[in-house]
Amino acid sequence: EAAKAIKLVEDPSKPAAKKIKIKDTTDHRNVRVAISGWVHRLRQQKSMIFITLRDGTGLLQCILADKLTETYDALTMTLETSITLHGEIKELPAGAHAPGGHELIVDYYTVIGRAPGGDEAITNIVAPDADPQTKYNNRHLTIRGDVASANLKVRAAVVRAFRRSYDDLGLLEVTPPCMVQTMCEGGATLFEFDYYGEKAYLTQSSQLYLETCLPSLGDVFCIQESFRAEKSLTRRHLSEYTHIEAELAFITFDDLLNHLEDMICRTIDHVWNDPQIRAFIQELNEEANREEKKRFEKKEVAEIKHYEFQPPQRPFRRMKYEEAIAWLNEHGIPNEEGEPHKFGDDIAEAAERRMTDILNTPIFLTHFPFELKAFYMKKDPSDPRVTESVDCLMPGVGEIVGGSMRMDDLEELLAAYKREGIPADPYYWFTDQRKYGTTPHGGYGIGLERLLAWITGRWTVKECSLYPRWMGRCTP
Ligand code: 4AD
Repeated sequence: EAAKAIKLVEDPSKPAAKKIKIKDTTDHRNVRVAISGWVHRLRQQKSMIFITLRDGTGLLQCILADKLTETYDALTMTLETSITLHGEIKELPAGAHAPGGHELIVDYYTVIGRAPGGDEAITNIVAPDADPQTKYNNRHLTIRGDVASANLKVRAAVVRAFRRSYDDLGLLEVTPPCMVQTMCEGGATLFEFDYYGEKAYLTQSSQLYLETCLPSLGDVFCIQESFRAEKSLTRRHLSEYTHIEAELAFITFDDLLNHLEDMICRTIDHVWNDPQIRAFIQELNEEANREEKKRFEKKEVAEIKHYEFQPPQRPFRRMKYEEAIAWLNEHGIPNEEGEPHKFGDDIAEAAERRMTDILNTPIFLTHFPFELKAFYMKKDPSDPRVTESVDCLMPGVGEIVGGSMRMDDLEELLAAYKREGIPADPYYWFTDQRKYGTTPHGGYGIGLERLLAWITGRWTVKECSLYPRWMGRCTP
């Protein structure tokens, strides 16, 4: 058949095609356009080819008819071929459906880059039911799919919305270093590397650096990668994740909680009020429900959870750690040793998830015992057993935010270094904040991938990262 293929020539009498992106198609109906993209879906009929074109900004149905279907390129067309299509965008007849409510009636095209068919066809490499390792080995191809790309678009919208909210509230963005010589969240999860013969680490959190910016820039935030050498494989731990952190001066613990609640609600409102992004979230939730049903059928989960994201109501439920311990015991949820929880126990991931799922509302879990928390946290003046600390827990994921008031007293901080066996020298610049005009201050860190898993209903945070890293995976 290929031998009989004809060669296409563009009709010189037609007006020049205007180069546009799919997102701009509605404004360009009935004019001649040129649109470049990749063949996302392909349906071939006698003398008709239906291409769903993808260019990253959207999808477009394109129709090739008659002579256009008889070229070598048309006869050997495969998914993922890159192509430029010329033609006019026409509104669909009533009752017909396609993205945007219109289609491109193609009059000329050129193939830019062919893609393999057969064994190497994209559908054979990243089949919807492929095992997760195969999907992650081929993440560069998986991200071309509807689910992964929708999730990445929601991610971009969330990041954009955070920046907008911080701007609304007057916090300034800074970019702290990723290569550091101090730890923030404990030695156990530090990635160490050789820095010109000196020991250095990948940052676990930008918090200590944000604190130093307060006297210089006022309240600040950053959106920066954090790194944790997590030695466990869970659904919510990555080795590299995007950390949204903020630090505020001259505040009380209550101010911190109110600010955090405001930031989360404001940001989600910005995201939710964008109709395109809301549609992506709803599609992702529906897909999550289909996946949950499969897990239930395969007996991977004991009950079916329904995903339907709704912006949270204010105020968030506030619960002290001590109340949570009592709540877990009242509800027969044991600690990791299978015994009733007692004051001082770390609330493990399973118990925390269980509690959040039952309460099914955002929770500010506060006042953790100081032994469970990082060295820098300020103690509660009314109860020295606990710190002015907060974890924000969301249904479906559990903890998505960790924050606290910081020790602002020099002597107390020096004593904390001693207690924790931390050498004070490398921290001189952090300590100096307490020496040169100390202030009460506090802040928090939000795990972007966890926040997204909550919004889009992902089973694991890995799906919320462009190229996720976890124990055993640092590629592609
Ligand atoms: O609770 P964490 O460890 O708190 C801090 O790092 C503070 N220094 C932040 C601050 O106050 N500026 O981490 C904060 C959040 C967690 O709630 C979680 O959402 C996320 O970061 N996170 C992770 N996300 C993915 N993978 C991991 N391994 C994570 N570890 C923490």
